[in-house]
Amino acid sequence: MGRLVIVSNRVPDPHELAQPAGGLTVALADALRSGDPCLWFGWSGRQMEFEGDPTPNVETHGSVTYATIPLTPAQHRGYYQNFSNGILWPLFHYRLGLMSYERADWIRYLEVNRLFARGLASLLEPGDTVWIHDYHLFPLGQELRNLGFQGRIGFFLHIPLPPWSLFRALPPAEPILRSMQAYDLIGLQTEEDANNLRGCFEAEGLSGADRVRPFPIGIDPTQFGADARLAFAGKEVQRLRDSVHDEPLIIGVDRLDYSKGLQERFLGYERLLTRYPEHRRHVTYLQVAPVSRGEVEEYRLLRRQLDETIGRINGAFAEFDWTPIRYLTRPVPRSVLAGFYRLADVALITPLRDGMNLVAKEYIAAQDPEHPGALVLSHLAGAAPELSEALLVNPHDADAIADALHEALTMNLEERKRRWALLDNEVRSTTAGSWARDFLTALDSADANVDGQTPVS
Ligand code: ADP
Ligand code: F6P
Repeated sequence: MGRLVIVSNRVPDPHELAQPAGGLTVALADALRSGDPCLWFGWSGRQMEFEGDPTPNVETHGSVTYATIPLTPAQHRGYYQNFSNGILWPLFHYRLGLMSYERADWIRYLEVNRLFARGLASLLEPGDTVWIHDYHLFPLGQELRNLGFQGRIGFFLHIPLPPWSLFRALPPAEPILRSMQAYDLIGLQTEEDANNLRGCFEAEGLSGADRVRPFPIGIDPTQFGADARLAFAGKEVQRLRDSVHDEPLIIGVDRLDYSKGLQERFLGYERLLTRYPEHRRHVTYLQVAPVSRGEVEEYRLLRRQLDETIGRINGAFAEFDWTPIRYLTRPVPRSVLAGFYRLADVALITPLRDGMNLVAKEYIAAQDPEHPGALVLSHLAGAAPELSEALLVNPHDADAIADALHEALTMNLEERKRRWALLDNEVRSTTAGSWARDFLTALDSADANVDGQTPVS
């Protein structure tokens, strides 16, 4: 195989040690540790006015060359905020009611995909394999084909994909599905997502169902476990440990996103304090939720709603020497989070829908095998089929969350060890490295698919 070219909207800033919160960059950064030379193309994270096409900014760090382009404020709004995160994100997380469609945003989305295609085409070499990531860039493969690129192109979707009955509510459903015909291989997180995409292709009378396969994403558990052991001895974990005085700690870590079920989760915790009063004044719930997509209206509303809910719960249950919920909206370095996971007795991870959820896997990898904690996980997370030994809950059911938390907080050591050993085995069986290798091996042996130079419209 020639050079690997990764394309994603979000590209980690190689100058910043702390990676941005988000599964895509974390998993890819873990997967790229193999050291093979690679080009990573995407948005620079900057907005500025420009005329014509911007020249990519190219920087090499170790084996990875980063090539990034800025967006104009209008492109950023139409392509990223509105179409990607105000239309595709809610629909693909089964929240049709939150989708707010404008044709002008679809046109911006196509414009930016074409801009990406032209910027990338100038850097491609014959023999390159292109691997495109996530919902921001569905039509990019087709646009590269239109510019004459004949090499392998794979696509991986990091978020869920709904069934045709929902997908068809998207006004440009047909051109998006048609553009995906340009890919030699399409990876999704779960079998359910893969079946849904096959169903969409069939409903539109499109071929390509045989190029759709699940590739569940993972982490680097060995490295993360080592990070957790190191952080456990560090001053932040020491401060957290001192502050809870040997009492139980529940942890949640999520971007501040409505798909993560934070509001429902706080109500579940409140139900625990109501129905199991023996935990009052003992348990502490630490929720780390860095602000994400703060310019999108739904995210601003959510933040206000959560502030109110947490204020109400803390106001109702707190004692002068005990606060039930601690809530942080700023990012915490992932290396420190690893130590917090190791310290926490319970992880509470209850998305209403999630492509995979890497935090669940990180929590397992961070545990002390002699004293592991318990994982309470939504059965609607993409990780749930693999992590079936977790305490699986319906995230909409406050009583179910309360019961699972009570069970986790009172579970004996033997049962925690039994469950953790099975979960750890799962987390080690599909890593970020094996995910990338499996996908690229399958892409390498997929039938080439260079026909069709059909403009997306
Ligand atoms: P998503 O991709 O939807 O954000 P995931 O759970 O799959 O959800 O991935 C989130 C990633 O971001 C994890 O690797 C996690 O460690 C990291 N992360 C989440 N919150 C923070 C935070 N506060 N600070 C740093 N990293 C974070
Ligand atoms: O993993 C899903 C995802 O949407 C990624 O595509 C994205 O990089 C991450 O979450 C964080 O979101 P954003 O890039 O919008 O900050």
